[in-house]
Amino acid sequence: MIETNITKMFGIKHPIFSAPMGPFFTRELALAVSEAGGLGVLSNVNIVGTDPVEEHKASIEYMIEHTDKPFGLNILTSRNNPGVKQMVRSLPKIVMNNVKMRDQCKYWLTSAGSSRFLPESKYFQELRENSEVKHFHVAPAVWLAKKCLDSNVDGIVVTGTEGGGHQSYERVSTLVLLQQINKYFPDLPKIACGGFATGESLAAALSLGAGAIAMGSRFIASKQSEFHEKYKALIPPGQPQDTGLYTGSFGPIRLYKNEYALAHPAPSSKEEMIEYENSITSEQRARDLGAYDRVYNGDITTGAVLLGQSIGIIDSIDDVNDIIERIITKAEDVIKRNASLLK
Ligand SMILES: Cc1cc2nc3c(=O)[nH]c(=O)nc-3n(C[C@H](O)[C@H](O)[C@H](O)COP(=O)(O)O)c2cc1C
Repeated sequence: MIETNITKMFGIKHPIFSAPMGPFFTRELALAVSEAGGLGVLSNVNIVGTDPVEEHKASIEYMIEHTDKPFGLNILTSRNNPGVKQMVRSLPKIVMNNVKMRDQCKYWLTSAGSSRFLPESKYFQELRENSEVKHFHVAPAVWLAKKCLDSNVDGIVVTGTEGGGHQSYERVSTLVLLQQINKYFPDLPKIACGGFATGESLAAALSLGAGAIAMGSRFIASKQSEFHEKYKALIPPGQPQDTGLYTGSFGPIRLYKNEYALAHPAPSSKEEMIEYENSITSEQRARDLGAYDRVYNGDITTGAVLLGQSIGIIDSIDDVNDIIERIITKAEDVIKRNASLLK
């Protein structure tokens, strides 16, 4: 077994988290990851026609009904995310009033916006004081990690540019970012994210100061994930260079290169993104937002296919239990082998 500050913080067996993957549903995936001894994370679902508070509530209820293990949820705190105010107000209240939810829904991950938004909610403050819940925020750059510390987070998710989905403008690799953040914030609990898919990479993340890894693309390619079969079928045989940075709802986004991606070149700065947002018509905006619904329904040509460079090391669609077991066994071997190098 591998015990770290993160496995102890959350009372989990393995230092492996599923990464949030909104706006898509990841309820079955989160359940499978938590049941397998990792920590499963519910995504901020806002496919057209869904209410994000109701979706989270239904997913949390589903989780406590089907497992006694800890799990987490993600709230996108971007100004562009519909329902964000209601989520930071209502969700802590809902969880606070249910003992099982309070005990199990321990990991509150915010991303793609301010790290202050959730801790400013009086209901979240109350929840934090009366339970073991922890607040983490995604930090894709050193200056953002500093902001997270100012927001008094319990830890950060260090996500580099090779990861699937939304990215920062800085485009720093996970390898460099982890070293930078470890140098400036050695004591801050960290989860490494972006590009992880193997036991070797878990061992590397632990060497670089992280207490766990979070994986998105690797878990999409699992039997339990709710993604469309056509989406999964792109992963093996996908290569890292089949993905690139394009324009997403909150800035740069790593997508599989298809018709949709190629028509949306990445903004190089926040100013360029704002300029783009102001330049498009409301019909175009609606069509862009529809790219997530389209892909969810299997349109991998004009839909936005969020995937990371790690697809280049994923050979098969596997059961979540097997993925986690394989990664842990390999990481243990690597850690032992590395220790044997010491003379
Ligand atoms: C399909 C998909 C959807 C994503 N949606 C979100 C999201 O809603 N919130 C978030 O913080 N990150 C989101 N991400 C980023 C992931 O949480 C994570 O950073 C990324 O998958 C890590 O890289 P990997 O795919 O190489 O494991 C998404 C990634 C993917 C692939």
